Amino acid sequence: MGLRTPLALGVLISGRGTNLQSILDAIQQERLNAAVKVVVSNVAGVSGLERARTAGIPTAVVNHKSFSGRPAFEQALVQVLREHGAEWIALAGFMRVLTSEFLSAFPGRVLNIHPALLPSFPGVHAQRQALDYGVKFSGCTVHFVDEGTDTGPILGQAVVPVEAGDDEDRLAARILAAEHRLYPEMLQAIAEGRVQRDGRHVQVLRSDEIPTARTR
Ligand code: GRF
Repeated sequence: MGLRTPLALGVLISGRGTNLQSILDAIQQERLNAAVKVVVSNVAGVSGLERARTAGIPTAVVNHKSFSGRPAFEQALVQVLREHGAEWIALAGFMRVLTSEFLSAFPGRVLNIHPALLPSFPGVHAQRQALDYGVKFSGCTVHFVDEGTDTGPILGQAVVPVEAGDDEDRLAARILAAEHRLYPEMLQAIAEGRVQRDGRHVQVLRSDEIPTARTR
């Protein structure tokens, strides 16, 4: 998989962690040149933490409720991520909005996956929003995180058709399968130095388009 050093990832979760699992599986299967340095959850006892432990990855719980306010919570997150050597941050079902307090610690290095084709249906219950609106296609989006809710520059999207008879669960399951493909692919593009960003515009180059000696 080339001579580059693995992408040093910190993964932030709040729940079941199936996207985390897709990242761990991709690493194990050598489709993703990365190392998950730590998995941090803001909620204790979630199954995503168990997935990390099973894979032998350090975990931490940083409960937002234990802090006086957002800045202190975010400083604690940054500290634990830095302690473990995380350089790139993947949000994977992390249910807190992050401010510049956090984002400035990892400038341009925080990614998220969202279960809709942004800018449509940001925020929670994206699949239900899509069904309620009556769109024929939805999907998922991997984007850089900025201070808005699901507003950052888009790296990649996958389209998922809405089918007759879909309810929220059926559509969510089909979108989730697409998420599990897209997130590791986008992370691998970063690992290979194939992502070029110019303001809101992000280009993911093909392997044969990488300029030589390009850094991440
Ligand atoms: C996914 O649908 C993701 O797009 C959204 O939250 C959900 C997390 O699921 N941000 P999981 O915890 O990765 O299973």
